[in-house]
Amino acid sequence: MSSSSLSIQGLAKRYGAFVALAPTDLVVADGEFLTLLGPSGSGKTTLLSLLAGLVPPDEGSVHIGSDDVTYAPPYERDIGVVFQNYALFPHMTIEENIAFPLKMRKVPAADAKRRAREALEMVHLPHIAGRYPRELSGGQQQRVALARCMVYKPSIILMDEPLGALDKKLREHMQLEIKRLHREMGTTIVYVTHDQEEAMTMSDRICLMNAGRIEQLGTPADLYFRPRSLFVADFLGESNILPAALRTRVGDEVEIALGGGGVAGRALANGTDLAPGTPVRVMVRPQNLTVARRPQNAASPDALEGRVSDVMVTGSLTKVYMEPLDRNLPPLVAAFPTRNDADAVRIDDVLTLSWSGRDAVVIADTASAGAGAGAGAAGAA
Ligand SMILES: Nc1ncnc2c1ncn2[C@@H]1O[C@H](COP(=O)(O)OP(=O)(O)OP(=O)(O)O)[C@@H](O)[C@H]1O
Ligand SMILES: [Mg+2]
Repeated sequence: MSSSSLSIQGLAKRYGAFVALAPTDLVVADGEFLTLLGPSGSGKTTLLSLLAGLVPPDEGSVHIGSDDVTYAPPYERDIGVVFQNYALFPHMTIEENIAFPLKMRKVPAADAKRRAREALEMVHLPHIAGRYPRELSGGQQQRVALARCMVYKPSIILMDEPLGALDKKLREHMQLEIKRLHREMGTTIVYVTHDQEEAMTMSDRICLMNAGRIEQLGTPADLYFRPRSLFVADFLGESNILPAALRTRVGDEVEIALGGGGVAGRALANGTDLAPGTPVRVMVRPQNLTVARRPQNAASPDALEGRVSDVMVTGSLTKVYMEPLDRNLPPLVAAFPTRNDADAVRIDDVLTLSWSGRDAVVIADTASAGAGAGAGAAGAA
């Protein structure tokens, strides 16, 4: 059997003058779980449809293992597809719908029936085997579509928001089932979700898309802790983004001057190789900011100090919102596990903020290029 890695080279799709997918390269390893994440309209469904063979590309190629399948019809690709609007056959019962891919593959009827029943158990719908699709709710139809795709164990599965219509509990159950299938069958999965948490917990790697291009591709931790652009830093979770200037490089870290220049700090160079003095942004996640009472008798000129503007105890986390005393710096938020002295921090307290150099990253300051731009076809790697 051939490898079920997926690779695309220079793959592009336009609708008239509109670029839905700029020329894109991507390799999904055999057995990998890759999630496409990104704002609405960024090209996620377009990319999946090109992989599945549901729309033809304008340029570029698609390979499965070493086979060029760029122009192969969908049924000649060993790819299972679960799209949100991928309809079930209306004239077949649910059991017949699920057994259909097996029938097409010449699995004996009794065997197909047993496996269809098992698949229905897996999606918690054993009681609806004899019904027709129109007799199911949207979420139930979605689960049947999942069962129908999983039942014949294709070596690659593409899923476009397959859990979108499910409530939280079912969603979590199905996340586990999909992960189990992935682990046990070694299925290569390309998954689309709007849910960042789902993307972070399910994926080996996340491909963050923006305006028809790949903005950054990496492990969840890469994207979360080492974003390469403001767009990525901003898109995933809460972040503090501070204007800074580079001073000197110290190994893989740099010394930085913040705000008006009076406050020093450190951050990971994050692959940037900019000259001292270059204005940059520095990103620190709220949980990596440490807040402390300032020392009794000395405001060190190097300390970043701020006035507490709000305190929120959100169950397990306490969030402290601060206005830096240096007016050149934007408001910041720090988060830490709630302790039983959580009420010790009060509004208007002046506290000192600090972080470890390893927990902050330098991001090249491309603010003027803006998150929404993207008309440029530069396609930087
Ligand atoms: N058949 C089409 N004709 C014209 N434009 C299209 C067509 N299909 C998609 N587009 C456009 O291509 C862009 C990318 O669409 P796509 O469906 O890939 O986005 P998406 O990332 O899946 O968004 P969402 O998160 O909303 O599902 C959108 O601006 C969309 O309007
Ligand atoms: Mg879509």
